[in-house]
Amino acid sequence: MSLSTLSLLATASLAAATSFAARYPSAALETVDVVVVGGGSAGTNAAIYFKDEGLSLLLVEKQDRLGGMVNSWTDPDTGVTYDYGVATYTNQTGTTAYLDRLGVAYDVPSEGSFTSYYADFSTGETVDYVSPSIDGEIAALETYYNVSSQYADLFLPSYANWPAGDAIPEDLTMSFRDFAIKYDLNDTMLLIWAGIGAGMADMLDAPTIYLMQTFGPQTAAVFLGTDVQYHASSGRNQDFYDAAEEILCDSVLLNSVVVESIRLEDNLGVELLVHNSETDEYTIILAERLVMAIEPTESNMAAFDLDETEEAIFDVATWSVVNTGIISHPSLPVDGLLYNLPATAVDGDDFALPEPPFVDYFEYIGEGLWQVIVVGWEGFASETAQEMVSEAIETLAAAGTIPATNGTAVTFKAWSNHGAMDMRVTADKLKDGYITDQYALQGHRSTYWTGAAFSNQLSTFLWAYNLEYLVPLVLDSLKA
Ligand SMILES: Cc1cc2nc3c(=O)[nH]c(=O)nc-3n(C[C@H](O)[C@H](O)[C@H](O)COP(=O)(O)OP(=O)(O)OC[C@H]3O[C@@H](n4cnc5c(N)ncnc54)[C@H](O)[C@@H]3O)c2cc1C
Ligand SMILES: *[C@@H]1O[C@H](CO)[C@@H](O)[C@H](O)[C@H]1NC(C)=O
Ligand SMILES: *[C@@H]1O[C@H](CO)[C@@H](O)[C@H](O)[C@H]1NC(C)=O
Ligand SMILES: *[C@@H]1O[C@H](CO)[C@@H](O)[C@H](O)[C@H]1NC(C)=O
Ligand SMILES: *[C@@H]1O[C@H](CO)[C@@H](O)[C@H](O)[C@H]1NC(C)=O
Repeated sequence: MSLSTLSLLATASLAAATSFAARYPSAALETVDVVVVGGGSAGTNAAIYFKDEGLSLLLVEKQDRLGGMVNSWTDPDTGVTYDYGVATYTNQTGTTAYLDRLGVAYDVPSEGSFTSYYADFSTGETVDYVSPSIDGEIAALETYYNVSSQYADLFLPSYANWPAGDAIPEDLTMSFRDFAIKYDLNDTMLLIWAGIGAGMADMLDAPTIYLMQTFGPQTAAVFLGTDVQYHASSGRNQDFYDAAEEILCDSVLLNSVVVESIRLEDNLGVELLVHNSETDEYTIILAERLVMAIEPTESNMAAFDLDETEEAIFDVATWSVVNTGIISHPSLPVDGLLYNLPATAVDGDDFALPEPPFVDYFEYIGEGLWQVIVVGWEGFASETAQEMVSEAIETLAAAGTIPATNGTAVTFKAWSNHGAMDMRVTADKLKDGYITDQYALQGHRSTYWTGAAFSNQLSTFLWAYNLEYLVPLVLDSLKA
């Protein structure tokens, strides 16, 4: 960073600092090189890299812990820990080096085996979905791997190589339904849908690029058995983030959100007013650069006073919402995975999927517990999702698909609403150069962007995005 930048920042911010400070005279004042907002997968990782580059930084996180979509829950009755959010980490460039840096032991989790059942949760009736042969499934998945791999350099780990409008491959803007029919992916549709694609709410209608963002070639490779994935050896992925918190130590502001901000053009810096909901204290942060690592939804962006250029990007995006929980109920099948498929899935229609909002499945995870996933659109509330879970079980029991409930209610042991994810726009917007315009926001108003909305939906690719693209970009801007 140059002296002139610093003094410009000081001068330009003075009026603003005085205004925040005048209204919040007891607020602490912090001056740092970089402030990262959002301590999930992308923000925590970026903060570690910045720290290791010798920058001064603060990391502002809303929750009382780092880790975002990681959800580790320990059953008080048995002492067993379950990861019902982020489960595993693929083996991407920099993954093991980062996990080693955190100093938490990791290994390759063992695969469980289970029996699959299919039912229409809206009627409760069993669906005689004929699942594809293993050979058919593997062949279709390999086709998907082969085709998606051809395009990987365009969007992984960043969209830095993304082409201009006309040059965007048609495969990536067509709906995933058309893509899947084109490449005859029928036999792998349920595999792509069940655990991952369902999170998009409308996987078949979304442009294929967004499906590839969430189910990339490497995920296909993991299912094909040609690539590995890791989890914390303790069985508690939160350990990675607790270790990160220790490394970052005083740089972490938990229970904190930005309530007001001033962001200057020409990389002259930012000023943030941060409120801690636990202590009710305010901190004023002066930083040369702001790195955003939260989903750029309207509510998340409210404190950032977006300008027209920024609004033009985020206002046209749509988002799905995933709820995940651990429940118990005596009527659910032990050792089973009960999928929700519409009645039309009978006779091998691999393109018949439930309409959002929907309960995705109930998966037995041991000790009388099931994981449930419920998906809807932006604004989908936990209460609604939980009501849908109770209703699905009642409906399945009423139809005789599972044993009668006798009025026994569902016990919700752990629950997490992951909020908006899988940001996307229409094919027309993509062809109009949306992603190029989105990337032009890097550096605009001293602000840089990481997180799933700017890269993809897998933690390890976000870390690679930070390592290979975002962190160098911010460092270069500070040297300029
Ligand atoms: C059920 C489920 C399972 C998944 N499993 C895996 C998996 O096994 N492997 C994998 O790699 N990926 C998995 N993913 C995807 C992965 O979790 C996401 O892609 C990844 O977490 C995105 O990282 P992020 O940093 O962009 O967002 P997040 O991890 O969501 O981080 C955003 C952070 O910002 C904080 N925040 C939000 N708003 C504010 C605000 N206004 N001020 C301050 N802080 C704020 C949030 O609390 C959060 O900590 C899973 C996702 C879901 C929903
Ligand atoms: C992980 O990927 C690296 C290359 O990035 C490779 O060298 C290593 O063998 C992989 N690990 C495993 C266990 O496959
Ligand atoms: C995928 O590509 C590999 C390597 O080119 C090839 O051997 C294999 O047959 C392809 N698989 C399918 C299903 O197209
Ligand atoms: C794949 O599914 C589509 C949509 O249901 C159908 O039109 C097509 O015939 C199927 N392909 C094969 C080979 O069965
Ligand atoms: C409900 O009652 C019936 C009849 O007594 C019994 O067979 C069944 O197991 C009970 N179901 C549950 C969930 O307890």
